[in-house]
Amino acid sequence: MLNESVERLPICNLEDKSFAPEPAVFVVFGATGDLAHRKIFPALYDLFEGGLLPAELVIVGFARRPYTDEAFRNDVRASCAEFARSGSFSPNAWQRFAERLFYLRSDLDDPEGYRRLAAMMAGNDGAVNAGPGGRPIPPNALFYLAVGPSYFGLIAERLKEAGLGTAEGTAEGAGGEAGQEARAGWRRLVVEKPYGHDGASARALTDTLQGAFAEKDIYRIDHYLGKETVQNLLYLRFANAVFEPVWNRNHIEAIDISVYETDGIGERGGYYDDAGAARDMMQNHLVQLMCLTTMEPPASLDPESIRDEKVKVLRSIAAYAPEEFLRRARRGQYVQGSDGKGGTRRAYREESKIRPESTTETYASLRLELDNWRFSGVPITLSTGKAFAEKFSQIVIRFRRPPAALFAARCGDMLAANELTIRIQPDEGVLLRFNAKVPGMAAIKPSELRFSYRQVADYLPEAYERLIADALAGDSTLFIRADESEYAWRVLDGLEKAWAAADPEASPEHGGLIFYPAGAAVPTDGLEPAAGAGAGAASAAPAVEA
Ligand code: BG6
Repeated sequence: MLNESVERLPICNLEDKSFAPEPAVFVVFGATGDLAHRKIFPALYDLFEGGLLPAELVIVGFARRPYTDEAFRNDVRASCAEFARSGSFSPNAWQRFAERLFYLRSDLDDPEGYRRLAAMMAGNDGAVNAGPGGRPIPPNALFYLAVGPSYFGLIAERLKEAGLGTAEGTAEGAGGEAGQEARAGWRRLVVEKPYGHDGASARALTDTLQGAFAEKDIYRIDHYLGKETVQNLLYLRFANAVFEPVWNRNHIEAIDISVYETDGIGERGGYYDDAGAARDMMQNHLVQLMCLTTMEPPASLDPESIRDEKVKVLRSIAAYAPEEFLRRARRGQYVQGSDGKGGTRRAYREESKIRPESTTETYASLRLELDNWRFSGVPITLSTGKAFAEKFSQIVIRFRRPPAALFAARCGDMLAANELTIRIQPDEGVLLRFNAKVPGMAAIKPSELRFSYRQVADYLPEAYERLIADALAGDSTLFIRADESEYAWRVLDGLEKAWAAADPEASPEHGGLIFYPAGAAVPTDGLEPAAGAGAGAASAAPAVEA
């Protein structure tokens, strides 16, 4: 609990009534897939339970399996029972939610499926019309692409052909009558990751999507931006007067942004072996965390001002030559070790759908610098890995030591620097490390001021709830603009190119692959591996140095 005097202070509510979820037809492409099952339907259900969905919302599952509406509803029910946050999964609430669910069976590339969708949206489909309490079909539509990335462009094009796109010129699309009729209201396209495999493919995807939808209607997901603790970064920095004056190179020595996981790659080998940790995590989540940590205060809280500032950060990332990239980066791959639950985890190379000689990294770190006034010369280390001993995501701001007088003069390196840790997950909160006197002694000991979200909230909404509600409200602040993705790829392309040309058996600072046993301790400095690791060492590999 917070202390009483804090509890009594007023809350300043920033909710903008002009940004409320609007009635729409919510179409989920890939409705029977894993993402829809684990995240999208449970989030929709939680929003519904919380009274945050407009009563007229109609949800359409668009997928290949030969389901009836009934079978689809049962499937979604199982997803919600397993993954929804709402503890109160009551039959009554379910019944009301299920009334909104419909299924449209179609191959993703079959134009006929899209024509039927357009007809359904135009109210020319008896089944849906008679659906949610006889309410009219909303004129707006949100198309959620919860499918593999190879379908993103195809679906956008098919939607455009059916007259459901919003790019200029799409009104003339081949949608026929149904499509034309369905054109009133807004249309939005929500795109999942991965957004491209490199800069060129991301740009090509952008061109295709923008050929069908106006950029303002394209919502690119980075689920990290939906996390409460990530949004809190801007609040922490700009709603307080104590942090911003020291938030620069004069006071900050280094910034570490880390996302570690205990799980391996599970069943995602097919995707992961072509991606690797840098593409999977760094290009999006870690880079976004860096932008929010280092950006200048935006002119206002409107989406474009915030995204403009993030782009400025991305544009200021220093460009490195390949050998410099290698010096600043490390890559690693897990070999057989512990699964953290008393069992054994097999080596990455033995996971399903992984090439036996794969050199794909499951651990990546990169030390960057920003060529800008505020942070010039401050090392920013992004690091991420799978199959480590701990799961956490955090940002650590390390401040400079006090001047070498008084305590610092006497203690030298033993005087711990101040550190501000922004804990994204788990144990969501903020920690400030500072030095305090040891009672009864002339001695100094590091201590901690700690804020935990659990002190103020029983639960934190799931990222997908926030993102879905924002997309329905037309608030694009927490989505990635095309230029953000492009600049982030620019950095990653440089790194990937340097790694592709490097010998995986070289030493780590020349791009060699470090092997670490599954369950290894999270490396503390994010850079230095244990000596002696090489590609040949896959089975008896040393750990990344703890
Ligand atoms: C996804 C990555 O974007 O984020 C996964 O593709 C990763 O590989 C996941 O496991 C991590 O998300 P979170 O929210 O669990 O930190």
